Amino acid sequence: MFEEYASKTSKSKALYERARKVLPAGVSYGIRYFEPYPFYTAKAKGSKLYDVDGNEYVDFWLGHTALILGHNPPGAVEAVKKQLENGTHYGTCHELEIMLAEQVTKMVPSAEMVRFSNSGTEANMYATRLARAYTGRSKIAKFEGGWHGGYDALHIGVHYPYDIQESAGLTSGALQDTIVLPFNNLEAVKEKLKNEKVASIIIEPVLGAGGGIPAEKEFLKGLREFCDEKGILLIFDEVITGFRLAPGGAQQYFGVKADITVLGKVLGGGFPIGAFSGSQEIMERLNGRLYERPHYAFHGGTFTANPITMTAGSATLKILEDGKLINKLNRLGDKIREQIREIFEANNVNVQTTGTGSIFNTHFAKEEVKDANAAFKADRKKLVEYNLKLIENGVFFLPTHTGALSTAHSEADIEKLFSETEKYAKQRKAA
Ligand SMILES: Cc1ncc(COP(=O)(O)O)c(C=O)c1O
Repeated sequence: MFEEYASKTSKSKALYERARKVLPAGVSYGIRYFEPYPFYTAKAKGSKLYDVDGNEYVDFWLGHTALILGHNPPGAVEAVKKQLENGTHYGTCHELEIMLAEQVTKMVPSAEMVRFSNSGTEANMYATRLARAYTGRSKIAKFEGGWHGGYDALHIGVHYPYDIQESAGLTSGALQDTIVLPFNNLEAVKEKLKNEKVASIIIEPVLGAGGGIPAEKEFLKGLREFCDEKGILLIFDEVITGFRLAPGGAQQYFGVKADITVLGKVLGGGFPIGAFSGSQEIMERLNGRLYERPHYAFHGGTFTANPITMTAGSATLKILEDGKLINKLNRLGDKIREQIREIFEANNVNVQTTGTGSIFNTHFAKEEVKDANAAFKADRKKLVEYNLKLIENGVFFLPTHTGALSTAHSEADIEKLFSETEKYAKQRKAA
């Protein structure tokens, strides 16, 4: 299965051998490893990655879905080059952080105030703490298959079967205080929480790592009503969907507002970021001039709102603000979901394509994939095989992971995805 890949990636193999000695599993993030070894990137531009062996890949992984304008988009890069002359990290207040916060509050429906962090994980951690501080409750709830980063309280119930602990080292307190809920099933959510008092329910409006599965609009609406009834804060983890599904993210796309919105990825314009936002009433809990211990909720960090990220983020959001590029990508996403399904169907291979807007995935399954359980029960081996065939032929999805579109993708890039998918589907049919 790996012969062709190995024949094209000898320099990557050598780098992997070096990496294994100094980086556990040879990588800086476990999910970046794939069999037989990952290729090593030498440079990236537009819709493409180029590895150390000179192979070119149309990139649908896009830096964990962050790069909605593609790699090195001129608008953001020029602004960053200028900012580099003025400093990379201040550790003091500056206008660029105000500008990006203003832009976020202009675009995201429920955001009146914002705080920045350096990753989605951090932002979710602080958002959870804020919800606990605001409500005075300890317990929280999240969904099966929901990925919010590696923070103890949220690193629970991510992979099926959900009762196996996701990581060693989680405390019993974290495990006891987090309730895991079924996705897209309002009645079951109500039943599970009927005797509980939770501070927050956190949801990815489209499960990303869980298979690219959108929440149903009625489910989100019902969840909103339920949270209002019970005094629970509804947290939308829009680290993937923010500034991708619509200028105002999933809240605009689905027409349902959150109490706290967590952002990341696209917001950083290619640089590390996380952010959380909400109404003034909630966010002011972070204001140490209004609240004292024990009522004040802490947030902070050395590199928060670093001027490079703030610059790249502002440039990116301004490009996305009118929604034209986003809508175009969303239509392209519809076409991709439809065409990939048709290609496999024409070759008698059962697949379900999931996602919405410019987020998409393929599952080798007969039945509709409406939650992460169905995605995990689909034939993952086939998905890995399909993804590896694509990689061998210059199309990159991180195996099994959800893909995304960028404004840098050309018609030829999309045609290549279709033609390579067709080649694989024909091989499967013949097998
Ligand atoms: C929905 C969602 N939330 C949170 C995170 C964590 O973000 P980060 O990897 O920046 O810590 C991710 C990352 O993939 C994500 O997809």
